Formats: sequence, structure tokens, C-alpha cells
Amino acid sequence: MKILVINGVNLNMIGIREPELYGKKDYKSLVSYIKKEAKSLGIEVTCFQSNYEGAICEKIQKAYQKYDGIIINAGAYTHTSVAILDALKAVEIPTVEVHLTDVYSREEFRQHSFISLYAEKIIVGKGFIGYGEALKYFSDKTAF
Ligand code: DQA
Repeated sequence: MKILVINGVNLNMIGIREPELYGKKDYKSLVSYIKKEAKSLGIEVTCFQSNYEGAICEKIQKAYQKYDGIIINAGAYTHTSVAILDALKAVEIPTVEVHLTDVYSREEFRQHSFISLYAEKIIVGKGFIGYGEALKYFSDKTAF
């Protein structure tokens, strides 16, 4: 099973940005965590991060027929990007949306997600573990 993990804008700044919200661990340790979890589940994982909306859309387009699932934390683009939603719809790859924080208990503008209009599962407020749960979700889905 091949899973693409996409982290969007400002996710490369975790560890530095608002540590009281996003924690003290950096993006590199997030990638190590994801790779370790994927390995234990026998999943082949690719991690991608970009601060550019168009680059994220291109990565999704190129994933067409190449990945069994996408895990995406689009950062602030979650709340603004019809383009990322359309890219996900175009490739029809099963998608899990992840957020480090509980976006539903934060500012009102964070409570709407364009990604949620396509994602089949949404995991919020669990920090790094959310990505692990998303991997587990894909692995359980095909385990019968
Ligand atoms: C985030 C939540 C978003 O509202 C915010 O813009 C982010 C990070 C999260 O992981 O909690 O950049 O996606």
C-alpha cells in the first residue's frame, strides 16, 4: 500500500511556531514519526511539504493512479483552497484530513474546511498521533 502524506503551508515551522498550540517537535521529527508508523504497518509512505498552493495541487495531480491514499494537513489552505479540494476530487484518491490542533475549538474561520468536503475521515487535535491514526485507518480498511 502506498500513501502520500501532504503537509501544507507553515507546517515546516512546527517546533518554532506557536509551540503552545503545535508543540515543540519540528517537522523533521514529524516525518520520522510518520515513517516509523508506516513501516510498522507495512505501508510505503511519501512525505511532501510545501508552502505553495499550486505545488500542493501539482503533487496531488501527479499522485493520480500512483497512491492508494492521501493524508493531508493543508494548514491554512484548509480553510481557503477550492483548488486543493478540486485536485483531490480530480484524482479520486481516498483521503484523510488531519490537523494537529482541534480546529473546531479554535477561531470560527478555522471551523470550515474545503478539504472536509472530500475527505472520508477527519482527525483533529491529536498532534503527531493523528497522522499515525490516519495510516492505521488506511491499513485497517484493506485488512480484510
Ligand atoms: C492546522 C490548523 C490550521 O487552522 C492552521 O492554519 C495550520 C495548522 C493544524 O494542524 O492544526 O496551519 O492545520
